[in-house]
Amino acid sequence: MASHRKPLDDLRETVGRLSDQLPRPGLRGVDDSLATRPGPARPLAAVQAELDGLIGLESVKEQVQALVAFLQVQARRKAHGLPEVATSQHLVFLGNPGTGKTTVARLLAEMYRAVGLLQKGHLVEVDRAALVGQYVGETAIKTDRVIRRALDGVLFIDEAYSLAPEVDGRLDFGPEAVEVLLKRMEDHRHRLVVIVAGYPRLMESFLLSNPGLRSRFAREISFPDYSTDELEEIFAIILAQHEYALEPGAEETLRRILGGLRHGEESGNARFARTLFEQALNRQALRLTRDADRSVEALDWADVTTLTADDVAEAARALGEEPAPEPEPSRWRRWFG
Ligand SMILES: Nc1ncnc2c1ncn2[C@@H]1O[C@H](COP(=O)(O)OP(=O)(O)O)[C@@H](O)[C@H]1O
Ligand SMILES: [Mg+2]
Repeated sequence: MASHRKPLDDLRETVGRLSDQLPRPGLRGVDDSLATRPGPARPLAAVQAELDGLIGLESVKEQVQALVAFLQVQARRKAHGLPEVATSQHLVFLGNPGTGKTTVARLLAEMYRAVGLLQKGHLVEVDRAALVGQYVGETAIKTDRVIRRALDGVLFIDEAYSLAPEVDGRLDFGPEAVEVLLKRMEDHRHRLVVIVAGYPRLMESFLLSNPGLRSRFAREISFPDYSTDELEEIFAIILAQHEYALEPGAEETLRRILGGLRHGEESGNARFARTLFEQALNRQALRLTRDADRSVEALDWADVTTLTADDVAEAARALGEEPAPEPEPSRWRRWFG
């Protein structure tokens, strides 16, 4: 049968696909390789186990579980040829930076794939810069391109509130990106899940900025700040993963640093734990290599795996966090008395 397509159309499509694979500014590139070559799907139970293994986030885990249960039943209904319930799959993730939003989004994308609702289940994470252009017409092209990359997976828009119209009415193409997004979400209902994420305070006004947004993003999942205990556990996990350990007593310094963090929008949350760990490695390296009495070759297993209280305290200072003052004597007495 003769094809109705012109060779030029094919060429254009191929070039479009190829150029989609090139790295672009604004695209965070999370799992971008999967956008073109998805690996084998992990079974749902494996992805769920990874989610369960995350520290804290109990309410998030519960909500994701409820969502996945719903998706499983919907997938079965689809298999039976039953009509889909006209419900929105798109999600709002509310939470401060470093509270695990991207981590959970990536797992959720895999879950969508595992239950058969998305073919690839990759995560394309973008921010405003990837969607919005500076010139008339540029925004629609950029947004379209991002959406094409995300098809059959999850599009995660971080700090989505930055797409809301400017309060002072300045010309801005953010709202145009939202218009394109809403249109494509409808066009590709079965091939795209969109998650918009950001500070709780700012996301509300974003959702109200366009009447189409509220109805399409019906489900909201809130990511609370981590407690000091949870941050300690996260730090311990990071240490163990990389085969490091704190010297005896250094836990107390760590606890004072993590306990002194301001909660809320300014605190780094779990990301702070990771950055603190990385900074502590730098301090450890300087301490070990500056030791005039010993050459680097002489460092033993314990030397290279141990982080001292000072390593952690100096790392915190480098990050602008002074460890909180020594605890009350009564607490010391409780431990050592
Ligand atoms: N509950 C958790 N358990 C262990 N590590 C976590 C947890 N939440 C976040 N992290 C780690 O903290 C860092 C920031 O998490 P991320 O998902 O990027 O936060 P967000 O997207 O909300 O800014 C990542 O390195 C992640 O691995
Ligand atoms: Mg993130």
